[in-house]
This record gives sequence, C-alpha cells and structure tokens, in this order.
Amino acid sequence: MTRVQQDGEFPEQADENRRIWDANARWWDDRIGGGNDFQVLLIEPATDRLLDVRAGDTILDAACGAGRYARRMAALGARVVAFDYSAEFIARARARTAADAAIEYHVLDAGNAEAILSLAATRFDKAVCTMAIMDMPEIRQLFAALSRVLVPGGAFVFSVTHPCFHSAAIQRFAEIHEEDGGRHVARSGVKVSSYLSPFARKTEGIIGQPEPQWFFHRPLSALFRAGFDAGFVVDGMEEPGFPPGHAKPGVRWTNMPDIPPIMVVRMKLSGVGRE
Ligand SMILES: C[S@@+](CC[C@H](N)C(=O)[O-])C[C@H]1O[C@@H](n2cnc3c(N)ncnc32)[C@H](O)[C@@H]1O
Repeated sequence: MTRVQQDGEFPEQADENRRIWDANARWWDDRIGGGNDFQVLLIEPATDRLLDVRAGDTILDAACGAGRYARRMAALGARVVAFDYSAEFIARARARTAADAAIEYHVLDAGNAEAILSLAATRFDKAVCTMAIMDMPEIRQLFAALSRVLVPGGAFVFSVTHPCFHSAAIQRFAEIHEEDGGRHVARSGVKVSSYLSPFARKTEGIIGQPEPQWFFHRPLSALFRAGFDAGFVVDGMEEPGFPPGHAKPGVRWTNMPDIPPIMVVRMKLSGVGRE
C-alpha cells in the first residue's frame, strides 16, 4: 500500500513505525552492526569528510540505531549525545559501548521537538543523522529542534538513500548489451517512474528482515525545504557511488558505480528564519 502526502509528513505511521523498528532491531544489528559495504565504503567516509569531527566537539546523533557512528565520533574525541526511538536499538547501543565512552544514549522521538530540546543542556557544535530521515514519518520537528540546539554556524550532516535513484518505488535492472566493438556487456541501472510526490510505502531495508518497514520518500525539494524553513542552508553535499572492484553477482548497487545509492548533505544555520 502506498500513501501519498504532499507535505511529506506521515504522522499516522509513527506508532507502527516504532513498533517495526523494535521488532527488527536485533536482527538488523546482528546483520550490519559490524559494518557493511554501504556503511564502510559510502556512508561513513562521506559523513566523516562533511562533519569533520574535532576532539572536544559536542555532537548530537539523531536516530543513532545501535550507535555505530556515535562510537566512531567518540573515538575521535567528541562528546556524543545519541538518541533513537527504538528502545531495542538503544539497548543494543548500550551493550556495544564501553562504560567509559563519552556517549549518552536516550530513547526519544525525533518527531517531538520539545523532547529534543530537553537534551540540550549546552548547545551542540554539530549534529548528525545517518541513514534515518527516510525512515522517519515526520521530519519538520527534527529540523526545527536542531535549529535551536546547534551553536550559531553549527553543522547538521545527514545521509539518506538518494531520493532520485533509490526509493522504495524504483526498479533495479541488469541487461546484456552489445557494444560497438561487438562484445556483449552487462549493464545495471535503475528505472524511476515516480519521484515528485512524497509517499510512504513498506519495504525491506535488508532483504529477509523480520518485518517490512515503512519508507518515507520525499523529493529533494521537500527534503531540503524542511531544512530551509527551519533556517538552514545547504553548504556541502556528496553523492558517493561504489568504487570499482566491488561488483558482485546479481542486480546490485555495487555494480552501478555511476549511480549514487545514497547522498550525504551538510546544512548550516543561515541566521534567516530562526525563532
Ligand atoms: C536505518 S536505521 C539507521 C540507524 C543508524 N543511524 C545507523 O546509521 O546505523 C534507522 C533508524 O531510525 C530510527 N528512527 C526512525 N524514526 C525515528 C524517530 N521518529 N525518532 C527517532 N528514531 C527514529 C529507527 O529506530 C532506526 O534506528
């Protein structure tokens, strides 16, 4: 079932979404908690470059899952406050984190701006959200809260599945072509037949997961507008593709080096539109 909502906010999916993340958390963390190709080759290097963690930074990690990126930032000397609304994921995060790590975990809904504001005893230098905004039914409250908990000029770096190429409604294909020289070559790509309308639709984030999860598609304009309306501007962006040498049998993202399956965006407060 696909639900279309022009403002890109899907509050009616919020409760079920949390239940599904709790149901999938342990299975997900067993599968990818140690790092998969997406995390190791695409998400983490691009996020590292855009976030530029410095020792002494205080950083908010929104929708931290089992805390893999929170621990990476703490290892670089940052003090991290991390939250997720799945209690199961936060239990995994705590179990995976050394007692003396400079990380505080909270169970909290990114759709609740007041709850996020309660975390900000002091303002954050930076904020990050890795691969979760397309999993969130509502995003406007998150941007609004971030505009108030970041220091002036503070950066918010987020990664998402690339809205143009990698939504729950695209088809991936592999075809055999004959090139000019007469050789047969395999080519992989994506077919996009819907993009402009925000929609919610069930999908498998990892094939075979216990329950399909909700995926919330927002075109770039809607996604960025949520940040612009809260006073952010985009000042950095990467669209990483898989480097050559990682091709695998099947119709896979690793076989499409010229199509970015994710994008990583850095926003900063512009000083316009803030409360
Ligand atoms: C694909 S996981 C990514 C987790 C982690 N950031 C990572 O990169 O491994 C998406 C996460 O978003 C969380 N999430 C979804 N909606 C949320 C919300 N409204 N508030 C807080 N967390 C949410 C889920 O519980 C899940 O942990």
